[in-house]
Amino acid sequence: MPFDPRQAVSILMAQTFVLRMRRELSGPIEQPLWPPGVVLRTLSAKPEKKLAQAAHAVLEAGFWEGGGGAPIFRQWWKAVSRDDEFDPALVFFAMEGGNVIGMAQCWTSSFIKDLAVHHAARRRGLGRALMLATFHTFAQRGSTHVDLKVREENAAAQALYHSLGMRIVSRDAG
Ligand SMILES: CC(C)(COP(=O)(O)OP(=O)(O)OC[C@H]1O[C@@H](n2cnc3c(N)ncnc32)[C@H](O)[C@@H]1OP(=O)(O)O)[C@@H](O)C(=O)NCCC(=O)NCCS
Repeated sequence: MPFDPRQAVSILMAQTFVLRMRRELSGPIEQPLWPPGVVLRTLSAKPEKKLAQAAHAVLEAGFWEGGGGAPIFRQWWKAVSRDDEFDPALVFFAMEGGNVIGMAQCWTSSFIKDLAVHHAARRRGLGRALMLATFHTFAQRGSTHVDLKVREENAAAQALYHSLGMRIVSRDAG
């Protein structure tokens, strides 16, 4: 088929949407179930750069699949750690054999900013366990709900969020 520049322009300009999803925290919350050998930890008060770098590597790889683009580590870490809503206790790591295989980074406003699981560690329940860990943390902090944003075309992440009782509260051009 001959190349049609008008078609290329319309593909490039295709509108994308971002969904805001919410989980209410008033009812009972399932306990996270970690696969054998996997442990949860969070950043300490004086954040360890090596751990943050490993988390960024998982995030960076996952980001392209999630439909976004991740900034390089230095930019990412500067933006995250200097944000008013940053709390090292809200950076969650799934660790196996000393390696970061999954991460979730949240803001103090009960918002899950990023979630990613290493490609080789998918479908073992890590995404679910990380999400549940964030729900418990925010419930303990007195939050009534937890929110996140997900690209409309990211069906895998949405399947996970729906299975965790999250519902769509808004859909915005993004
Ligand atoms: C989304 C993501 C975090 C899921 O992590 P995971 O550890 O593989 O998820 P889990 O094993 O906990 O999956 C739990 C459930 O979520 C759903 N799910 C997860 N991945 C899915 C997929 N690719 N397709 C369909 N459903 C999926 C299923 O219901 C699954 O349960 P099941 O395995 O018993 O069928 C992971 O795919 C990822 O890192 N993706 C790239 C980054 C990204 O998109 N992040 C989210 C941005 S908002």
